[in-house]
Amino acid sequence: MSTQSQADLIHMFKGIPFTTRSSLELLKSLDTFDAREDDVLLVSYPKSGTHWLAQIIMQLYTNQVTLTSPIEFGDILKLEELKNLSSRRIIPTHLDYNMLPMNFKNKGCKAIYIIRNPKDTAVSMYHYYKDNPYLPTIDKWTTFLELFLKGDVVCGSWFDHFLSWEKHRNDDNILILFYEDMKKDLPKTVKKIGMFLGINISDSEIREVCKKSSFSEMKTNIEKENADPNHTVCALTSDKKLIFRKGTVGDWKNHFTPKQNKLFEEMFSNKMKYSDLAKSITY
Ligand code: A3P
Repeated sequence: MSTQSQADLIHMFKGIPFTTRSSLELLKSLDTFDAREDDVLLVSYPKSGTHWLAQIIMQLYTNQVTLTSPIEFGDILKLEELKNLSSRRIIPTHLDYNMLPMNFKNKGCKAIYIIRNPKDTAVSMYHYYKDNPYLPTIDKWTTFLELFLKGDVVCGSWFDHFLSWEKHRNDDNILILFYEDMKKDLPKTVKKIGMFLGINISDSEIREVCKKSSFSEMKTNIEKENADPNHTVCALTSDKKLIFRKGTVGDWKNHFTPKQNKLFEEMFSNKMKYSDLAKSITY
């Protein structure tokens, strides 16, 4: 594989690095997007469990809705494609709150924000970068971690993303979930999502949703999903092997040196000084 430089694959928009597969024309036009009141946003910083959450939501809606690729991904035609969908739209996005198209905010669209502890997110993203030809080549974990801490990776700073959404944590139309809580007690989270979306779901249906969204089940279905062009949650690869890697909590311990961990902790405490929500992050 040829070495891809940052410049070929990444460009900046409003100070945030985006892959060049998100056209600047699209990014500049996001505020013209005509949201519908029943749109549901699936919000995440990359590698936080977006596919997992999408799988759950699709089952709750018994697949009677359309799951799109992230709104910020593609060229200007993207807005037209979304406009032409007649069914309810489940729209993923990695945008921070400030960049979210105004119309979603004005129409009070529901948004579910999934948060994963940033150490595991960084590790997951490192592996994703390493194996993905659409992202700059980064061979060493140390190099990646430096970029991650500077916010010099796709979608920018994990910290800024988190803080922008935290400001809205008490809005009625926003539900905040933690990846680690889902690992601990998935039925509880599925129930919560159902209530938030106004979907009645029995205990046996909850069990079924959990079974079909377990890591092993989703990973086993890789081949089927790879063949399905409608499975587009991940804008940068159709290779699901890059998505379903380990699916565990705490893989950061296999990557961080004690010195890196100390640096990370210092930065975390500093950036999260005034954050209440950060206290709920577990490792
Ligand atoms: P790892 O790389 O740590 O394995 P996203 O969907 O936002 O790209 O996030 C991908 C991460 O979520 C990957 O983490 C992936 O393994 C994990 N993941 C995907 N499906 C999962 C599931 N059903 N249960 C637990 N983790 C899952």
